[in-house]
Amino acid sequence: MATYVLAIDQGTTSTRAIIFDQKGSIVSSGQMEHEQIFPKAGWVEHDPMEIWANTREVIGQALSKASLTRHDIAAVGITNQRETAVVWDKNTGKPVYNAIVWQDTRTQSIVDRLAKDGGVERFKPTVGLPLATYFSGTKIVWILENVEGAREAADNGDLLFGTTDTWVLWNLTGGTDGGVHATDVTNASRTLFMDLETLQWDHSILEAFGVPASMLPEIKSSSEVYGTVHGSSLLREVPVAGILGDQQAATFGQAAFDAGESKNTYGTGNFLIFNTGEEIVHSKNGLLTTLGYKLGDAKPHYALEGSIAVTGSLIQWLRDNLGIIGSAPEVETLANTVEDNGGAYFVPAFSGLFAPYWRSDARGALVGLTRFVNKGHIARAALEATAFQTREVLEAVNADSGVDLTELKVDGGMIANNTLMQFQADILGVPVVRPVVAETTALGAAYAAGLAVGVWGSLDELRANWQEDSRWTPSMDAGERDRQIRLWKKAVTKTFDWVD
Ligand code: G3P
Repeated sequence: MATYVLAIDQGTTSTRAIIFDQKGSIVSSGQMEHEQIFPKAGWVEHDPMEIWANTREVIGQALSKASLTRHDIAAVGITNQRETAVVWDKNTGKPVYNAIVWQDTRTQSIVDRLAKDGGVERFKPTVGLPLATYFSGTKIVWILENVEGAREAADNGDLLFGTTDTWVLWNLTGGTDGGVHATDVTNASRTLFMDLETLQWDHSILEAFGVPASMLPEIKSSSEVYGTVHGSSLLREVPVAGILGDQQAATFGQAAFDAGESKNTYGTGNFLIFNTGEEIVHSKNGLLTTLGYKLGDAKPHYALEGSIAVTGSLIQWLRDNLGIIGSAPEVETLANTVEDNGGAYFVPAFSGLFAPYWRSDARGALVGLTRFVNKGHIARAALEATAFQTREVLEAVNADSGVDLTELKVDGGMIANNTLMQFQADILGVPVVRPVVAETTALGAAYAAGLAVGVWGSLDELRANWQEDSRWTPSMDAGERDRQIRLWKKAVTKTFDWVD
């Protein structure tokens, strides 16, 4: 019997395929980056055809590195950047426009228009989200209003919408030849259209947005067989059996299955997810209410989420736009050429500020500069920005839940940075803990798929796979921590009201 599971992680900067064995250990992987397209300030796009081509390529890489074939793979799981919107023609399989990425802020005028009647929290009681450019719903509206012929084609029932999980699933399962048009509850909960209670599209909201229901995928659970891979693929006839948005997948991969458990992922952005079990909790402190996971017919688990738009992507910006480092890991070396931030604070409000502020009028600021400040201090301030933003999200989680988190489970690319992890523990005042398998996003998707086809039998079995690798404990004195946090919060206020 096939016992390996292949996870496709369609992320913001790259697409990966990772094969896991039954112990949840990595057997092999393939990875390809795709182009980041910035047509104008605030606009961020990806080419969906490139993403699909890369997906096929990385599947081949992972299989061949491990000398495995489709007969060894029990199921495929998909995880993805969540709010990135693709609209395509179901007859040709071609996108009508590039994918509009979650970081893109072009839909601000659509947000303002919708908010005129009832404010930005207009739909929050139903969908758990404020109106913001971040979510996929406003991006669909932009495509319908700005791409020639799109509105008419949508009204004729020719266009399909999907986040990138749906795009990959539809193509894997046959595309124009009978592809399955579906998504899971976690991705659907990021559109602004899904009712958190019924787990169905809310037709009155669709009407307010002017989006035809015929464009939307069917909402399914996170763990069930959606279809099988189409004939011509290397994985043909393998069931696709798990879908989770990447942050929810990381939560699942960290075995944070129960209410009160959480994780923080350090990717292009940072996303802290706090599991609230079967209860829908509405935040009073700037967090989102979102779906955690739903396994087949079982009841859904909900979560509170603190989303931070820019963390790892600030390090890429230092590399690509300022050129003060040659590669992302060099930021740690540069930061360690100085003892502290030299008084500089860097608030990377490149896409406005997400949690807990939700200020779309904010733009980035580097403050506290004197002639003393050099590029080492700037590197340090950039790293510290991630830790300060996480601190503010954790404060919100503690306030909403009424319980203080006693440690933080972490994952994602930036956790390889020791300087950051130590500073994170110092600024939080609680230990930061890293698991042995740090590829929790792909692991979570593999778990969801493997559970559906019987590779794993229970959540307890998965929990037993989780093992601690390292732990950073706070060593900064409380007075210094408070001073740093006070200055950071002051720096944040300097970013407000920057959009004319
Ligand atoms: O909400 C956006 C998130 O899903 C993107 O995650 O890891 O691709 O930056 P990542």
